[in-house]
Amino acid sequence: MKSMDLFWEALYDYHKWIQKWPFYLVNKQWNKFELDLWLYFRNIKDINELEKKLFNNVKWKNILDVGCGTAFYFPLLQNNSNYVEWIDISNLAIKIATEKWIKNVRCEDIFDEKIKKQYETITLLWNNLSIWWDIKWTKKLIWILKSILKKDWKILSILKKENDNDYFIWKFSCKYNGKKSETFKWIRFNIKYLWLLLKKEWLKLKILCKNDYWYCLEIKKQF
Ligand SMILES: C[S@@+](CC[C@H](N)C(=O)[O-])C[C@H]1O[C@@H](n2cnc3c(N)ncnc32)[C@H](O)[C@@H]1O
Repeated sequence: MKSMDLFWEALYDYHKWIQKWPFYLVNKQWNKFELDLWLYFRNIKDINELEKKLFNNVKWKNILDVGCGTAFYFPLLQNNSNYVEWIDISNLAIKIATEKWIKNVRCEDIFDEKIKKQYETITLLWNNLSIWWDIKWTKKLIWILKSILKKDWKILSILKKENDNDYFIWKFSCKYNGKKSETFKWIRFNIKYLWLLLKKEWLKLKILCKNDYWYCLEIKKQF
């Protein structure tokens, strides 16, 4: 079973109040980490200090939220801009987002390159810059996002820190309801490495705010 399918099965059960089992991430050494699915169903009052800084201090306009998930950021994004488009590759994500919040959410793979217009703000929230398997796919994503970003505007991202290496690829599977998924990869970038990677694509990286574990980043076109 694909890793994200199991993640979405668990989130859909949680959404329907029928979650009977904990959801685990399991690494190669068989260490288990329980993931609190509540994170994806938070209310505005539950957002942390880092998120508050991002949402309160940054100028947003015409937003595309890539990999919107349950779209729990709906009230905040809607407050910051009267125009938001939402896309996610998962049908179950779209089902939850539609049942809870929004109608204009599309099931779409960002790599299909169907988007022909440009946006002022593109959001990659909670590690969505890191979920693309390897550096090759991250570069492809950056290239696609650059082509749909308006000049002088920005990509906003919340990203997990990596301090030791250029990047670190974390491999894990999901475990839920007696099922185990295929292995999934998640990349953590060192900020200097990411800065270089973006510079090669003529993109500027700025740290908007940070805490011990996470960065809020702004990415803009250089010209
Ligand atoms: C880490 S979750 C983050 C969800 C949400 N942004 C949040 O902050 O709660 C990553 C999301 O990206 C979606 N995703 C993965 N690959 C995608 C793709 N190729 N195109 C669009 N969405 C994708 C997944 O289905 C999932 O909802």
